[in-house]
Amino acid sequence: MTQVKAAVFASGTGSNFQAIMEAGDLGCEIVLLVCDNPDATVIDKAKYHDIPVFVFQPTNYESKEAYEQVIIKYLIEANVSWIFLAGYMRIVGSTLLKAYKGKVINIHPSLLPQFPGKDGIEQALEAGVTKTGVTVHYIDAGIDTGPIIAQETVEVLPQDSITTLKKRIQKAEHELYPSVIKQLLKK
Ligand code: GAR
Repeated sequence: MTQVKAAVFASGTGSNFQAIMEAGDLGCEIVLLVCDNPDATVIDKAKYHDIPVFVFQPTNYESKEAYEQVIIKYLIEANVSWIFLAGYMRIVGSTLLKAYKGKVINIHPSLLPQFPGKDGIEQALEAGVTKTGVTVHYIDAGIDTGPIIAQETVEVLPQDSITTLKKRIQKAEHELYPSVIKQLLKK
């Protein structure tokens, strides 16, 4: 039986990409990293794991539709049927959403719908909440919106800084994301 193929999209460090790569049998094979930032260290992690990378600079294209068409070409060539966003700091446009309807999931460092956007951890600290967490969800056209698949709560301690809270949130992310992928791909 041929293995289901998936791509990870990331823009930065890639600790979630690494967790996915090192999680063992996911029920799918990661065959491509899509990255919108040529300086991102996730590219080195993909090279280490022998995963092909499509790296692009959005400013080199005239529109989101134009670069998403190119991404889709790479995805089709690699037979990708699932997309896992892992710190991809860009709104997915209708071109990609239509092509991969119901097959794109995202991880976000808060208990959505609280604290969407780029700085979910900082927002939780500023708001003074005692609990925050991690969400894995299907994406839609919004910023960190779309049906929630799973959430994990992380306590905010009175002495927490961004660094200490981020460490615990990322630990939760690195466990939750691969386990959700395994559950989804079993279906
Ligand atoms: C992760 O914490 C992820 O939840 C967050 O970016 C970080 C990427 O870290 N995503 C969002 O904030 C999406 N709005 P990583 O590059 O080390 O995986």
